[in-house]
Amino acid sequence: MQELKPIKEGKVREIYDNGDSLIMVATDRISCFDVILNNEVTKKGTVLTQMSKFWFDLTEDILPNHMISVDVKDMPEYFRQEKFDGNSMMCRKLEMLPIECIVRGYITGSGWASYQENGKVCGIELPEGLRESDKLPEPIYTPSTKAEIGDHDENISFEQSVEHLEKYYPGKGKMYAEQLRDNTIALYKKCAEYALSKGIIIADTKFEFGLDENGNMVIGDEMLTPDSSRFWPAEGYEPGHGQPSFDKQFARDWLKANPDNDWTLPQEIVDKTIEKYLQSYEMLTGEKIK
Ligand SMILES: Nc1ncnc2c1ncn2[C@@H]1O[C@H](COP(=O)(O)OP(=O)(O)O)[C@@H](O)[C@H]1O
Ligand SMILES: [Mg+2]
Repeated sequence: MQELKPIKEGKVREIYDNGDSLIMVATDRISCFDVILNNEVTKKGTVLTQMSKFWFDLTEDILPNHMISVDVKDMPEYFRQEKFDGNSMMCRKLEMLPIECIVRGYITGSGWASYQENGKVCGIELPEGLRESDKLPEPIYTPSTKAEIGDHDENISFEQSVEHLEKYYPGKGKMYAEQLRDNTIALYKKCAEYALSKGIIIADTKFEFGLDENGNMVIGDEMLTPDSSRFWPAEGYEPGHGQPSFDKQFARDWLKANPDNDWTLPQEIVDKTIEKYLQSYEMLTGEKIK
């Protein structure tokens, strides 16, 4: 069997070209503070891929998505190996729109820092008196442009997103910017409400959209995973300070507490990390990862 080479190797995901489609593989690698750690977190890739699948299915009524199949039987023979089983998604190839669509339902992280400085998040005025981790009166859409490798993404206003899209799609900037915003808010609202009913707060997340061969907008990339979102347990949620999260919290905390580490986690921390990923999957879907 001929070995295939990914056309793109990210820190965590690998993307293979498959003619009309792509195959996106979420590996078990874990990155913290933008460094790939030496450990593999067994099943993490499967959790990420299956969680995206769950959300794509749940939101089909709002907007089409790029998912074709997560069954390796539908994929070329090379992918019918154990290391691709469960963590691979065959996707429609899209022309990705050059905006990262961020939506925030709660105030935290860089948004909280900016609010303390000037009462705004990405130029959007927020009510006075918010505490760290407070729920916002309405979710806010805060787009950014995707930075070149190594650079940080740049936050932009809605108006700047219109101008940015206009450069790539003359005459259509406003239409696409509005569609991105409206789809982002609609997807977030439906999924955040669902997640809350299962005991998980989705504090914020990022979506990426593209155009299909007919020019229709489709959601691509990964969807509402702990890598693209902040998930907090609803139990014990308390504004006024940061919240524990369902992702790499244990790994990050350990690395910070052990500054002379060589980017290798003790097995106990790896075990706790995967336990959190599995727990969030089971709470959301009511199913166990196979
Ligand atoms: N259906 C799709 N068609 C084409 N490109 C896609 C599709 N879904 C996601 N992408 C792109 O694939 C890439 C995924 O790479 P990723 O590992 O997340 O690295 P990064 O986000 O750093 O570019 C992103 O550039 C994303 O925009
Ligand atoms: Mg990405």
